[in-house]
Amino acid sequence: MLQSNMAVNPQGHFVFAGFDTVELAKKYGTGLYLIDEDRIRGNCRQYVHTMRSCMPAGSVPLFASKALSFKQMLRIINEEGMCADVVSAGELYTALAADFPAERIYFHGVNKTDEDIAYALDNKVGYFIIDCYEELYALDRMAGERGIRQKALLRLTPGIDPHTFAAVNTGKVDCQFGVPIETGQAREFVSAALKAENIDLVGYHCHIGSQIFDAQPFCDAIDIMLGFISMIRDEFGYTASVLDLGGGFGVRYVESDPHVDIPACIRRVAAYLEKACIQCGLPVPVVLMEPGRSIVADAGVTLYTVGSVKEINGYRSYVTVDGGMSDNPRYALYGSEYTAIIANKADQPADYLCSIAGRCCESGALIQENIMLQQPERGDTLAVMVTGAYNYSMASNYNRLRRLPIVMLHEGKDYLAVRRETFADLLSCDL
Ligand code: LLP
Repeated sequence: MLQSNMAVNPQGHFVFAGFDTVELAKKYGTGLYLIDEDRIRGNCRQYVHTMRSCMPAGSVPLFASKALSFKQMLRIINEEGMCADVVSAGELYTALAADFPAERIYFHGVNKTDEDIAYALDNKVGYFIIDCYEELYALDRMAGERGIRQKALLRLTPGIDPHTFAAVNTGKVDCQFGVPIETGQAREFVSAALKAENIDLVGYHCHIGSQIFDAQPFCDAIDIMLGFISMIRDEFGYTASVLDLGGGFGVRYVESDPHVDIPACIRRVAAYLEKACIQCGLPVPVVLMEPGRSIVADAGVTLYTVGSVKEINGYRSYVTVDGGMSDNPRYALYGSEYTAIIANKADQPADYLCSIAGRCCESGALIQENIMLQQPERGDTLAVMVTGAYNYSMASNYNRLRRLPIVMLHEGKDYLAVRRETFADLLSCDL
């Protein structure tokens, strides 16, 4: 099967993380997000252990919580020894509510408001990753007002195109994130940060993109970042001690996607960095990485119930399910590919060509087009695989649909971590 936590049992049912998904659909109802907690913990350990073994002391992965944020998720990340990357006061609030140690939280994000900055400072967040001049000045002033010297990194854009899909290609010069190196503006940015009395600049951050399948784009980023670190050292006498390489390792959504050997990639990045530092006469910096997708994507499956099979003569067939763009907007947004299976017919041939539609009222609100499934009929359970990243976190209440619950699967036990929204929840902000 697509991932090692998937199988088919003797009843012909699709098994995920050792659980019969048809039974889980009966127990909890559908649509339903399943999360394989053991897979998440395993993914975390790959990063934590490998970075510890081949990078300078203090090197650590930060979980990009935008990929999947709810309290239990942050508790697991903390238990596994990772730090957390939050990009909004809401993600920060979630991490704090899960008792995530504030000093291990990195506050990222574009256009932090004064309110966001105050909230993070008052909660003693460990590090800011400063995106722009306005944030730098606001943070300097507000930290000063509180008698704090705030540790921070500067977000720089190295100008790298990792050949991934455009919507997530965030390291190019022409983008709204960070300050570019190529144009000379990053140099000015560092100069301003070094003058800010209440900011303790520890280093630089760059993020080159998402769904990257090998180490090479990270090595290219290292070349540019080390060139910049050397230039700043020569000019200002300041040597960055931390280099944050961002997130981005890819996952296997469909059979044709490669499998990424994350520990091997990290070791390659570490070896490259060490060699490049020797060449530049620089000490090897502490490394941070910010994985999101590669921690949670393959830990997720979404279960739906088939409602109708509509064959439009001469055109195509639509299979509708009790969910849709509201719980998985990735096909509608990016045309992302997924693998799906009729969970109660998992041992039957996938010989039915169709498109999977949900309940949202627009023609583009599809979960997948032109996919092969087992013969579907009303009442079947449909499983969409590798939905752990950017599904729940990007869900909406479009069409006043209620957001789905999350059931965790851990060492043979299933438990609810996020309950299903109620109709009352839909009205909770309405006055
Ligand atoms: N760090 C920064 C600064 C980022 O912007 C991102 C993702 C990450 C880390 C985590 O990257 P990952 O390891 O998950 O690739 N909604 C899109 C993905 C957007 C990613 C944006 N930034 C999707 O569903 O594919």
